[in-house]
Amino acid sequence: MKQIKVKDKTFQVSIPAETIAHEVTRVAAEINRDFAGREPIFMPVLNGSFIFAADLLRQVDLLCKVCFIKLASYQGMQSTGEIREVIGLAEDITGRDVIIVEDIIDSGITMAHMLETLQNHNPASISVCSLLVKPDALKVAIPIHYRAMDIPNDFIVGYGLDYDGFGRNTKDIYTLIPSE
Ligand code: IMP
Ligand code: MG
Repeated sequence: MKQIKVKDKTFQVSIPAETIAHEVTRVAAEINRDFAGREPIFMPVLNGSFIFAADLLRQVDLLCKVCFIKLASYQGMQSTGEIREVIGLAEDITGRDVIIVEDIIDSGITMAHMLETLQNHNPASISVCSLLVKPDALKVAIPIHYRAMDIPNDFIVGYGLDYDGFGRNTKDIYTLIPSE
């Protein structure tokens, strides 16, 4: 089984490129079908979704816009600690169909926050499209309209996803081999 080392950790292939491509093609077809005749705005969330977004959007045949957004984290004064703010929202999304493109939904807290923020801009609709979902890790109920694959609650890298900023630039997805 193909392995890679990212910094101090070793990972082995868990989802080969061919499987990813197959599922991304399916998701693109679902979106093309559901949004036929409409002009959605795709909002891929940086950094993790850049490869997924590139592969997905090349198979979307709708007239659409693409606006990359990012969640900026900083330590706030409140007891809750981390405050996250959506940056890069250059497009006016009022009355528009928005499709958020994410790399992975783990606890769902990031997506819940994003949905709340974007909702304030009064879009016509918001759909969530995630490459990966860890169903066993979900802590909050969020709508997930499109998903390429469900995965177990293990740490993964590749195809855009990182370990400490590294390991994004691979064609396959790799799962952490737990060290004894
Ligand atoms: P959530 O708020 O717990 O859903 O976390 C979502 C974010 O955590 C994702 O956008 C990723 O950046 C990161 N993340 C969650 N699981 C993994 C993983 O297995 N590998 C790499 N990043 C992950
Ligand atoms: Mg992410």
